[in-house]
Amino acid sequence: MIVSRIVIEGQRRLCGELELQGSKNGVLPILAACVINRGVSVIENCPELSDVENTLLILQSLGCTVSREGHRVTVDASTLNGSAVCGEMTGCMRSSIGFLGALLARTGSAEVGYPGGCALGARPIDIHIDLLRRLGARVECGGSVKAVCTDPKGSRIRLKGLSVGATENAMLFACGCRGITRIENAAAEPEIVELAEFLNAMGHRVKGAGGRCIEITPASTCRGTVVHRVHPDRIAAATYICAVMSAGGDVLLCGARGCSMANVVRTAANMGCEFRYDRRGLRVSANGRPTSPGRIITRPHPGFPTDAQPMFTAVCSVASGQTLIEDTVFSDRFRQCGELIKMGADITVESGRVRVKGVRELQGAEVKAYDLRGGAAMAVAAVGARGRTVISGTEYIDRGYQRIEQSLAALGADVERTDG
Ligand code: EPU
Repeated sequence: MIVSRIVIEGQRRLCGELELQGSKNGVLPILAACVINRGVSVIENCPELSDVENTLLILQSLGCTVSREGHRVTVDASTLNGSAVCGEMTGCMRSSIGFLGALLARTGSAEVGYPGGCALGARPIDIHIDLLRRLGARVECGGSVKAVCTDPKGSRIRLKGLSVGATENAMLFACGCRGITRIENAAAEPEIVELAEFLNAMGHRVKGAGGRCIEITPASTCRGTVVHRVHPDRIAAATYICAVMSAGGDVLLCGARGCSMANVVRTAANMGCEFRYDRRGLRVSANGRPTSPGRIITRPHPGFPTDAQPMFTAVCSVASGQTLIEDTVFSDRFRQCGELIKMGADITVESGRVRVKGVRELQGAEVKAYDLRGGAAMAVAAVGARGRTVISGTEYIDRGYQRIEQSLAALGADVERTDG
């Protein structure tokens, strides 16, 4: 792995247009779902991210034939010849757990190593294991998770906790069950709706995605070639909105869909950011110092997304007034605060929440990304800060942002990536 740093000279206004990348959290479960399709899946607008490349390696290790031409990825799962994914491939990201449901649906058995992902506090997999058992699988948790189901029958299950990944896993497994599966207490994130779109394109009938109850009637045979265009990344959009609030500017986020990010837009508007929708996307303008929104509380969709919290914390560090920020989804998603404090922020970290007293400006410093969105928060802080910020730990940022330095540079930021 090449170790690189992102170097940003702050306080340049951001202006211009940015084509949003395809959604990371949208495409990852869809790639896992490709194994359910016995034919070819064509995924368009597939972002170039290390988590995506890693998922393509998992598909290849299972015998799928995978090719990529730019942002178009083709997965031929007719050649699938395995049902075990272990080791480093699963340990470096959370979404690998989706292969449990997908492989069970296709082959009746699955072995998947424990998932990794960003350290955001405890990230157990009990809801996943519980739902697989309720759908009839025998599950053993040892060095890896092994699941077998000889006679998968659809049934009515209630997820014992609200979880995006577990809802996706249940939807995937349900496609291989005989009869209708009803998933209650389902997560409602836009990525669930996108997965439903893909499964429907395959010929399954998924109803209710986006609500708390999802019903899946599996297709007896899947359609030949399935084509899906990945939705624009709502969290990348939130990141660039925060960058504009931090540095000031006027940017058109091409492809941004307001309906999937209403809470982010409302909060940023409360902070003084202006928005205008047009045919091509969302125009974002911000001038002068942002105002504190008072309080931000993250909650499952349609609440304020936890994934946008670190970047908003960066903007609140320079907003006039005080902000209380609470993360009710992940208990320990505040690693970025120590780095913001190095840049001059006035933040007190308490259990599950932080108090931010806005300062007039941040100063550039040497900081580190400890996780994906925490790294994005560093970039957001740096574009507004006085002087030079050097961000290390860029491998975390690359998991979810397609060449973030090029996107920011295209908008006029003074930014470069250096090796070593
Ligand atoms: N949880 C459990 N047990 C489980 C599963 C989850 O207790 O079996 C808890 C988690 O610890 C957490 C809460 O339930 O406190 C919600 O977790 P969820 O399962 O919804 O999260 P996830 O599926 O692991 C996805 C995204 C995350 C995003 C969360 C919440 C992917 C690949 N990851 O994770 O994205 O924060 O949903 O919206 O889709 C990111 O993009 O930076 C990121 C971390």
